[in-house]
Amino acid sequence: MLGGKRILLIIGGGIAAYKCLDLIRRLRERGAAVTPVMTRAAGEFVTPLSVAALAGETVHSDLFDLTAEAEMGHIQLSRVADLVVVAPATADLLARMAGGHADDLASTLLMATDTPVLVAPAMNVRMYEHRAMQRNIAALKGDGVRFVGPNAGDMACGEHGPGRMSEPMEIVTAIEQAMADGPLQGRRVLVTSGPTHEPIDPVRYIANRSSGAQGTAIAEALVALGAEVVFVTGPADAPRPLGCGVVEVESAQQMLDAVQDALPVDAGVFAAAVADWRVKTANGSKIKKDDGKLPVLEFAENPDILATVSRMNEGRPGLMVGFAAETDDVIANAQAKRLRKGCDWIVANDVRPETGIMGGTENAVHLVTEGGVEDWPRMGKRDVARRLAMRIAEALGQE
Ligand code: CTP
Repeated sequence: MLGGKRILLIIGGGIAAYKCLDLIRRLRERGAAVTPVMTRAAGEFVTPLSVAALAGETVHSDLFDLTAEAEMGHIQLSRVADLVVVAPATADLLARMAGGHADDLASTLLMATDTPVLVAPAMNVRMYEHRAMQRNIAALKGDGVRFVGPNAGDMACGEHGPGRMSEPMEIVTAIEQAMADGPLQGRRVLVTSGPTHEPIDPVRYIANRSSGAQGTAIAEALVALGAEVVFVTGPADAPRPLGCGVVEVESAQQMLDAVQDALPVDAGVFAAAVADWRVKTANGSKIKKDDGKLPVLEFAENPDILATVSRMNEGRPGLMVGFAAETDDVIANAQAKRLRKGCDWIVANDVRPETGIMGGTENAVHLVTEGGVEDWPRMGKRDVARRLAMRIAEALGQE
């Protein structure tokens, strides 16, 4: 997807600059050309020699480099790329972008460019959370600057929290997404995924065997077609999809709240294995053994998230896709489920243990729509995801 594209990579002066070496390598592996620009401070963290060697191109760093001025000029340099990427985007660089400064090569290029800009912030957590920083981020977002990260975690400065630069592969995915001219460009899609955990007491819960693999694959396939994806997931084993807004929840009620917060969307794909029941009143403290007396759990029905959203009078997504995990009469049950829940499509699969589908890497699904039933051959979950994403793109394209 990046073949033939050119990225102007502005490397800011932060400890995360070392990750840019890997980022350049991965971009070039995907066929992209990288024009590197380093701020003066960046040179304190990585050498221009390493950057130039990996990029296979000269590093630009001086605004008043007259040779370059004569040959190309900084205005032209700002226009050669399909995308400008700033990584790491330090607090100072972001502030200067927000303020419209143009006092070195990096800031001048950012002012002069007419191509989209993606930034990967990296800074100390307190700097990131500072009101001035948040003001600058809001201003830059308002100007149409795209952001990837920062992630939360342990930081080089010994503190913990948001501020860590995204990993190179996360930045690559964001770059692909920013440059995707796929059929879902400009579309917002919600995906639910994984199991839910319904608490019994502070240490015990009711769960199911869903790994979240199919939901993750669907989210990534939608991103690859250019969609903005909100991924609401229960505690799943599968890795979180790259390039999505991820909302982590535990229980069905929390999942419903997160789904409602994510609306409006153009389409919803409800791949989560939501627990049908919860313990009516979870114990506030751990239930203790009591002389052989067995605890009695009283259940309450969970909200049906798919049905709730499908039956919304206002703001219902244009396309609602549910899943049906069945062990008997797969098609008949799925058809009945489609009507009962009020969704448009049901992706039905047979989850008897002998199929190896639940928790496995393959899936054999039937797409149940108003028009009939399509039987898809058994294939990898990623292939099911790609095919479903294409069908969603077709359906939204016909709206
Ligand atoms: N679903 C949901 N909220 C629930 C239960 C299910 O959103 N509380 C969604 C699932 O994400 C899936 C679809 O509904 O897209 C079907 O889930 P499934 O568990 O197969 O259906 P149930 O309603 O539980 O029906 P049954 O258990 O009778 O098969």
